[in-house]
Amino acid sequence: MTEPVVEVITQSAIESRIRELGNQISVDFEGRFPIFVAVLHGALPFLADLVRAIPAELDVDFLALSRFGEGGRVRIAMDTLTSLEGRHVVIVEDIVDTGLTLNVLRRMIEMRDVASLSTATLIDKASRRLVETPLEYRGFEVGDEFLLGYGMDWDGRFRNLASIWAVLDLPAFSEDPAVLSRLALADPGDSLST
Ligand code: IMP
Repeated sequence: MTEPVVEVITQSAIESRIRELGNQISVDFEGRFPIFVAVLHGALPFLADLVRAIPAELDVDFLALSRFGEGGRVRIAMDTLTSLEGRHVVIVEDIVDTGLTLNVLRRMIEMRDVASLSTATLIDKASRRLVETPLEYRGFEVGDEFLLGYGMDWDGRFRNLASIWAVLDLPAFSEDPAVLSRLALADPGDSLST
């Protein structure tokens, strides 16, 4: 039977790409003290791995967005604790799709008189972009499949998967999302126990 989800980016591919990004960022920010601002909740695993791949001093903070009204308008629901004024800010996102969210967020942060602003996203769905927005660091460029795992969720589930999965059959997956737990969260020891 064909499963409705398939693993598309393995844990080791994520690890090695993040090592590359970390090296690139540490060269670009040498001698500065950047602050990495993760957009909750999806960017959490990427932030944690990315900052540990950067052998330099840095700071981290978080913000959360909420959508309201028509056309997916965005506002900051939870702001950073640190002032961003005069700071070298790197926004950390799990995924950039149409670019609408990032575009608004960048404009809101630019108004805070930051020293510099850049964005790191693990996943870039470049072909789906509706608005162009600067994207300085990207992990993987993908098509328009719906992705889950490593921060990306289905109604709050699956953010803790170590790899990234694509949904191939949305109706089948919606009927039984637990299929992904069975495939991705299975304990390898389970097969030995019976
Ligand atoms: P935007 O379209 O670039 O504004 O992206 C909005 C948000 O949609 C992202 O921050 C994600 O939370 C969500 N999103 C877009 N594509 C996916 C996906 O494939 N999986 C999970 N979330 C997604």
